[in-house]
Amino acid sequence: MFHFEQIEGDRISRYENLLKQVGHLVEGERDMVANLANTASLLYLSLEQVNWAGYYLNRGDELVLGPFMGKPACIRIPFGKGVCGTAASERRTQLVRDVLKFPGHIACDAATRSEIVVPMFKDDQLVAVLDIDSPIEARFDEEDQRYLEQFARIVTNSIDWSPILKG
Ligand code: SME
Repeated sequence: MFHFEQIEGDRISRYENLLKQVGHLVEGERDMVANLANTASLLYLSLEQVNWAGYYLNRGDELVLGPFMGKPACIRIPFGKGVCGTAASERRTQLVRDVLKFPGHIACDAATRSEIVVPMFKDDQLVAVLDIDSPIEARFDEEDQRYLEQFARIVTNSIDWSPILKG
C-alpha cells in the first residue's frame, strides 16, 4: 500500500519529497486514469493553499476534463481559450499570478485567484495539461513551475497514452 507522507520543511525539501513520492506512486502502473487520478490526489493533498488540482486531456479538437481533486469543473475547453487552452495551444506553461487579469480566464471556481497550467507531451504530441488553482493571489512562482514541470514529466512518462494518441 502507498504510504502518503507529508514532510515538514522548506518548499524545496517538500517538492523534492513530492517528486520521490510521485515516482513511487506510479511505479509499475501504466494505466492512464489510475495514474492521473492518484497523482491529482497526491498533489492536492501535498500542496498548501490549493483549491483544485487535476488534468484536462487532449481529445482531438478540444481539452476534456480528466481526473482531478476539487470542486466539479468545466468539462470542455477549446484550444486557445482560458489558461488551459492557452497552455495547450502555446505549448508552454502558463503561470498566472492574478486570474482576473488573464484575458479569457475560465472561472470554474469563483474562489480561484491564481493558477498554473503545465502542458504534457508524449513524443512531442500534446496529451494533457496539468492544472492547479489557488484561492491566493500569486500563489505560484518560477520555483513552483520548475518542480511542477518535473512532476508532470514523471507522470507523463509513467503512462500508456494509447487511449489519447489513438484519438
Ligand atoms: N481556469 C481554467 C479552467 C479550468 S478550472 O480552473 C479547473 C482556465 O481558464 O482554463
